[in-house]
Amino acid sequence: MNKAMADTEAQVLKSPRHVAIIMDGNGRWAQSRGKPRLFGHRAGAKRVREIVRSCPDLGVKYITIFAFSTENWKRSEAEVTGLMSLFRRYIKKEARALVEEGVRVRFIGDRSRLGKKLVALMNELEEMTSHNDYVNLTIALNYGGRDELARASRRMAQDVADGALKPEGVNEETITSYLDTSILPDPDLVIRTSGEARVSNFLLWQSAYAEFEFIETLWPDFTSEVFQEVVDRFSGRDRRFGAVKPAAE
Ligand code: FPP
Repeated sequence: MNKAMADTEAQVLKSPRHVAIIMDGNGRWAQSRGKPRLFGHRAGAKRVREIVRSCPDLGVKYITIFAFSTENWKRSEAEVTGLMSLFRRYIKKEARALVEEGVRVRFIGDRSRLGKKLVALMNELEEMTSHNDYVNLTIALNYGGRDELARASRRMAQDVADGALKPEGVNEETITSYLDTSILPDPDLVIRTSGEARVSNFLLWQSAYAEFEFIETLWPDFTSEVFQEVVDRFSGRDRRFGAVKPAAE
């Protein structure tokens, strides 16, 4: 093995398998340029493509991005409508490339409040990419961690009422299996851009042992080089999952 191959292998071995990203700062990025907020969201959508493409080289197999939260409905009607239209256009425009590049796309969140056309496009993209496994892209749309736990609890309660689940059978694995993310591994690394150090209801249950990186860069400026730097920092960290590190020999 030559040095370049060894370096790549070392990178892949220590990489976060699942990275979750809170893509914040689109509005400020646009406003600092004297442009409307949607201009920033469009620039942010372009960045998604570059970041997803860079995942295999960084050894990242799962990437989950926060596109729209259950709280984002409180924004102005114009911004919400613009974002919904951007999601529809993004799916239509990116679908073919995502299929060809081996990206498997999944959506998490409550679809019941989303427009019919958007939900149809989401279902179609999930189906079209269902045989892919090169990179797993999960898009959180109308997602909130508390809402997800409430929906999961309702379904669990219904299953108990129907006799399909026993109360004593409810443990951490059961809860995990009722979540939108049931088939995904927990995130190893959660990144939030734009200098805010909040979790904002993202993957509350799943990120119990994740490392967090709050970085100043605004999402539209989050290039694959910046992504690489953050992943490199993660690789140098020591994750113990609550256990004590064995004493050095
Ligand atoms: C937060 O920035 C960003 C959002 C609420 C939307 C995220 C959406 C995208 C990146 C675009 C599209 C994504 C896909 C998957 C097509 P902000 O508006 O809160 O920024 P601010 O804090 O500066 O106001």
